[in-house]
Formats: sequence, C-alpha cells, structure tokens
Amino acid sequence: MDKDSPQGRITQLRKNIEYHNQRYYQQDNPEISDVDYDRLMRELQELEKQYPDDDLASSPTQRVGAAPLSRFSSFTHPSPMLSLANAFSPEEIIDFDSRIKKLAGDNISYIAEPKLDGLAVNLVYENGVFIRGATRGDGVTGEDVTQNLKTISSLPLKMRAGEGKAIPSFIEIRGEVYIETEPFRKLNLRRQEEGEEPFANPRNAAAGSLRQLDSRITARRPLNIFLYNVGEARGIKFSSHCEVLKNLKSWGFPVNNLIEEAKTIQDCIKYFDHISEQRTTLHYEIDGVVLKVDNLAIQEILGSVSRNPRWALACKFPATQATTIINDIIVQVGRTGVLTPVAIMQPVNVGGVTVSRATLHNEDEIIKKDIRIGDTVIIQRAGDVIPEVVKVVLSKRTVKEKIFKMPTQCPECSSEVVREEGEVAHRCINLACSAQIKEHIAHFASRGGLDIEGLGGKISAQLFDTKLIHDPADLFYLTKDKLLDLDRHGEKSAQNLLDSLERSKNPPLDKFIYALGIRNVGEHISKILAREFISIEKLMSAKVDDLTAIYEIGPEIAVSIVQFFHEPKNKSVMEKFRKAGVIPRKTEAKTKDSTLQGKSFVFTGTLESMPRAEAKTIVEKMGGSVHGSTTSKTTYVVAGNEPGSKLDKARTLGITIISEDEFIKLVGR
Ligand code: IVH
Repeated sequence: MDKDSPQGRITQLRKNIEYHNQRYYQQDNPEISDVDYDRLMRELQELEKQYPDDDLASSPTQRVGAAPLSRFSSFTHPSPMLSLANAFSPEEIIDFDSRIKKLAGDNISYIAEPKLDGLAVNLVYENGVFIRGATRGDGVTGEDVTQNLKTISSLPLKMRAGEGKAIPSFIEIRGEVYIETEPFRKLNLRRQEEGEEPFANPRNAAAGSLRQLDSRITARRPLNIFLYNVGEARGIKFSSHCEVLKNLKSWGFPVNNLIEEAKTIQDCIKYFDHISEQRTTLHYEIDGVVLKVDNLAIQEILGSVSRNPRWALACKFPATQATTIINDIIVQVGRTGVLTPVAIMQPVNVGGVTVSRATLHNEDEIIKKDIRIGDTVIIQRAGDVIPEVVKVVLSKRTVKEKIFKMPTQCPECSSEVVREEGEVAHRCINLACSAQIKEHIAHFASRGGLDIEGLGGKISAQLFDTKLIHDPADLFYLTKDKLLDLDRHGEKSAQNLLDSLERSKNPPLDKFIYALGIRNVGEHISKILAREFISIEKLMSAKVDDLTAIYEIGPEIAVSIVQFFHEPKNKSVMEKFRKAGVIPRKTEAKTKDSTLQGKSFVFTGTLESMPRAEAKTIVEKMGGSVHGSTTSKTTYVVAGNEPGSKLDKARTLGITIISEDEFIKLVGR
C-alpha cells in the first residue's frame, strides 16, 4: 500500500500506536511523551472519520477515550458463568476422577491448566467483533465493563480469521483478567509516590482497575488477559476443550502456554506438583490448577451440581495465610521520615516461608483493623509482597492485649513526629535523622537507583555509623584503607565495592534522579524529568513553572524538586558528586518534532489563551504551517471568538474545524 495515501498512513499509525501501547502499558517503558502519543491518536481518529475501513473495529482508537460512566449497567450473561469445586489434596483429586468415571465410563482424559488469580470475565463477539464484556458477578448477571476491557491491548477487538474454524456469528469467550507481578509492583510504587494507598495484591489491583468508571484510568493500568473457555456459541461446534483452546489461539486470543493435556488422573497430579514448583518463577500469580474433562460430549453428560460443573475441578495450593500471635509492635523510620509500624510475631510458616514480621502500614490501618499487641491474627503473604495482617481473630481476644499508640518522638533520633493534615503517615521531620540518612544511602545504591553491587542496607548503615560517609556522595571518596578498617571487609570485598562504585559513575539520568530520593519523585516521574531536561544541570536550575508545564508534573512535585535543589546541603552534595566524577549520562536528544508535519492551519477569530503569533510559532515548531486563507489543502481551521468568513469557507470545503480548546489539546499545551 502507498505509505503516503490516507489508508497507508492509517495502517502506519495503527501499528505505531499499538507499539507505543505495548511500551507504555506492558513494558512500562514509554518511548514518547503522552502529548506525542495523544497527537498520534488524534491524527488517527481524524483519518478514520474521513476514511472508514473494515479494520476500524480493531483499531487502537476503539480502545481508549470513551467518556466516563456514572455507573455500570448490569449485564445478563447469555449463558451462566459457573464456578469450580475445590480440592486440597491428591485424594480429593482422585475422588473427582472416580466420580466422573462412575457416571461417564473409563475413557476420560483431561486438560490441566494453571488457575489464574485474577478475575473472571465474559466477552461477547458477534461476527468476530468484540461487542460487550462483563465481570462474572453472581454468575448470572455481571457488570458491563466493555469500555474498560477494550483498553487491554492483548484483548483482540476483532477475531483473526484464517487458520482456525470460520468465525462464528456469536460466541461467548471466558477468561481471566490479571496483572503481572512486576508491573503490579511498579503500579503500587507509583501509587505510593502519588500518595495513594497501594493495592493489597495483583488480584485486587486488577479488580479495582477493571471497575473504574473512567476507562482512561483503566487504560493506565497494566491489565492482561488469558482466555480459557467458551460459553454459548452459534453456528460452530467443538468436540473437545483442546480444540476450543486451539481455535481461541488461532483467532488471536492469548491462551496460557502452560496448559497441557493430561491423559490420566496421575498425570494431573504430576502436573499439579510440577506447576507448584514453577509457581514462584511465573510472571503472574496463580492459586492452583484447574482440571477439565477434555471431551465436550462427556462434559455435557456430566452436567453440573449447584453451579459447579462435575467435569472440572480447582486444585488449590495450600493457603498462604496463617495464624499467629503479635508479640510486639515496633516502629521503623523510612527514607522520607515516614514511621511504619511493624508487627513482631511468633514465627510461623506461610506457604513455605517462615515469617516473623508483618507491616501494619500506618496508624489508621491499625485502628481500622483494631490490632493490639498480644492479639491472635491471620496473616498473609502474596508472592514476594511483604506479609501483612488480614484480621484479628477476635474470638481469641482476652483482656490482656495492649492498644498501640504511635510515638510522638522519632524512635531513632527522638525528634518530633508530625502527622500532616490529609496524610495517613506520621513523619520524623528531622532531616539529619540517622535512620533516614541510612535509608537514603541504601536507596541511592538500590537496584532502581545507581544499582551499586555489594552496597546493601547493612553496609550503608555500617559506613554511616562508623562515620566513613555522611551522604551518598561520600561513597565516591571511599578508599581501600578506609574500607579495610571496617570489620567484615577483607581486601577482596573492599576492592569489589570500589570497583562497583567506579562502574556506577555514569548512570542513566533517570536512575540518578530517582536515586537522589527527592520527595514525590519516583521511578516514573524520574523518567519524565530525564526525558524533558536531558541533563542534570538543566533540571537543577528548573523553576516551578518550567516543571508544571510538563504533563504529569503537578505543583506538589514541582515544588519538591525546586526545594530539593535549593537546599544548601543538597547543593553541596551535588557539587561533591560532580567533583568525584559522578556524571549522569545525558538523555539522548529528542528528534526534531514532526508531529504536525504536513498539517496546515488557518486561524479565524480571536484566541483567548494566546496571541495568534504564539499559536503560529507553536505550530511551526511542531513541523506544521500556518496560512492566511482557507483552501482545500487546509487541514484544520481553528475557530476562536467571533470567527469570520474563513469559517464559512471551511464548512463549504468540508475542512475540519476545531475550537481553541481542541487546538490547545492538539498541540499539547
Ligand atoms: S474455568 C466452569 N479455567 O476460577 C468453568 N477458571 O472458581 C469455569 N479461574 O471464576 C472456569 N483460572 O475466575 C477456569 N484456567 C481456568 C481458570 C479459572 C482461574 C477462575 C475463574 C473462575 C474461578 C472458578
């Protein structure tokens, strides 16, 4: 296809946007700014309006951008969504097989699948196009979350024809929406950075994200989907579950790659053991294995009892919850001075790991859950997330439990502790608090920061306690002699540490910014700052206005940054970095802006937000051109207040007319 034709451009834009969706949502590593992304999106929307085609249904424009809803409408599933009976032991798995064989004969084989720990959804496709999707709800009626499901980039908006069976006129496809562990961790970090409560686990995060009334929020969540079943289907027949999965795959649906055929129930048990071993290495959470009778005719014969099909079974992993007693509640001081209460518990085994501490998050959480010292509690561990207390076992409560009170003085430096209005956290406000500095140094050297090998929390604390360093910049002035004085440090480990410090002297700018530990500046914001400012010097001299002009940077973040670089102590630390040769790599210069390349603008009427000359400069900087009169070649006529005859001309010529607001959005101001 001619790349310069509108159709060619449409194809190119769709590919391009899909690619950027992938980078942003799946890899959390965007290549272009949100403004540039929005521009591509808008160009595609415009072109699609003018040149509708058959692939519109699967275009990225169909995924994001719908107006927020005031509530979800309810959706009655064309065929009910059943649930699964549970098994917790090999004996129960064998019982399941025996029951089936009694009812349907001995010739049974199974399909074994991971039991994904997300939330079940039902998708309706008509003639291959995704029409509607809903949560499971009570199995009969769920919530219509179509707009939100559309934002999941791995969900095909249009089924792919070709290899598999012909696309049916109607089909319900069931699956699980989930969030992978690493994107979940990042999502929670970002939430904390923005002062929001972290999600308890990926499943809650997925559920919360799918139940957003504003699908633009859902679009920013790293949701994924696996499909594993078919409900009602018209004009198509399958003979086995294996065939269902094959067809789902060939139609373009993500199907889990750990699904296997298991000829006998022994194979199923082996599969369960094998998956249990693999569990911790997977990128997503699973809570067991699902066994399904492969032959669909046999499934039908077996039918179901009280909403559970007889032909399927959920074999659950042992619970990752356990019961224990809280012996004490201590308070830890973090890098930003936040005081975190931590429960010290009688050690207990939770899903194979001995746990003796659990975070209690903050005082409000303790009050909400009414946790007291001496209480018997249920704790849980999800993946590698810090264990937490789920609830108190009130039936075990006596009168001896002690109510915990947050200290009024920092447990490390005895300075005053404050709780600012609107914040859940208590903070130690002493910038020289030793606990904060140690955490700060450890953060600087951590994986998200300069990633200095061999410099964990313990060594950071030791270096600080022995007064070898006072801040992160001092690290680069360490010598072998000084290190050898430290106990535990032999010749070799001292040299290793010096080598890794040397290696980390030219970090990528975003890592360096993150490592500085500026309040409200986490990994995501650091990436934005690195992209916008290119060098640390430019960021250091930025004013609040320069910062707030950047999309996603609000006044609070901007003020934190400016204050950080104005603080005399920080200034001297920055100078020490420079002198030690710690020079972050400049971010690669942005390529010339060509977002409005080939677009011509005509302005009519007065603009409220800026003089015309400024609008002209903006357009030209972005590669577009501005003209005095409307012709058939004009791309946009921007209509300000009291527009003149240029507007009528635009209407007769069928040129796109945009308001000042739309213009401002288009140029990303
Ligand atoms: S099949 C009748 N397959 O488990 C069969 N379910 O308790 C219906 N789930 O609501 C489901 N992984 O959320 C099936 N591979 C899998 C699954 C799976 C997770 C969930 C699903 C369902 C619940 C059943």
